[in-house]
Amino acid sequence: MTKAGNTLTIDKLASGYGESMVLREITMKVRPGQVVCLMGRNGVGKTTLMKTIMGLIKPKNGTIRYGEQELTAAPPYRHARAGIGYVPQGRDIFSQLTVEENLKIGLEAAGGSLRKAGIPESVYEKFPVLGQMLKRKGGDLSGGQQQQLAIARALVAEPKLLLLDEPMEGIQPSIVMDIERVIESIKANQSMSVLLVEQSLTFATSIADYYYVLDKGMIVAEGTPASLSEDQVRKHLAV
Ligand SMILES: Nc1ncnc2c1ncn2[C@@H]1O[C@H](COP(=O)(O)OP(=O)(O)OP(=O)(O)O)[C@@H](O)[C@H]1O
Ligand SMILES: [Mg+2]
Repeated sequence: MTKAGNTLTIDKLASGYGESMVLREITMKVRPGQVVCLMGRNGVGKTTLMKTIMGLIKPKNGTIRYGEQELTAAPPYRHARAGIGYVPQGRDIFSQLTVEENLKIGLEAAGGSLRKAGIPESVYEKFPVLGQMLKRKGGDLSGGQQQQLAIARALVAEPKLLLLDEPMEGIQPSIVMDIERVIESIKANQSMSVLLVEQSLTFATSIADYYYVLDKGMIVAEGTPASLSEDQVRKHLAV
């Protein structure tokens, strides 16, 4: 595997719950080192797409590949082993476990050599507050700190592709800026690609190399941020 990882290729993906089709025919790519933003109004299926990519929902049609690896019907641990990390919407950390224990669970997703090396120092450099709170219970942290822990837990496995589902949702502005800085440093470092679900058009267009807009189960717009028109924003994003 190269430093920057592989290309995630999603082709004609269909997914949903039971009889209900949420995603009809999604085709998209995340190339090595890119930050790709997935945008769309509430309830259009952004989280469903992230869960399907991660193997938590079985696709009804289409394919998911990461580099040469076929992940379409694979269980989530295969995605983790392939180098894909996932931070779910709503920061579900283990509230009864300490910060350190939460981070160790992240290590379990990693390969053997990483597990032996323990939690990398770089995690505490990115999130200094976590280093000061190792023995605190996850549930005693503020919402913003819990989100930092959720991201850190994914980063300890040193993924090559990070799936981030609305990491700034419901978080106080000072921590929003901390998290934005972490995403910016990941991008500057070029060693990881990111698929980011983000509601803030300002941040999404400032950080993204490429964007996709989801509406009615389809990708209805895509391109470089500069190409996103006011018309598309009005039609598919404005509330
Ligand atoms: N577990 C589930 N079972 C059945 N339907 C679900 C389930 N989770 C989500 N849905 C439905 O699937 C559709 C897409 O939901 P999803 O959470 O993927 O949207 P979203 O774009 O992530 O929304 P938000 O912006 O609010 O996070 C919605 O109509 C939702 O009600
Ligand atoms: Mg969602």
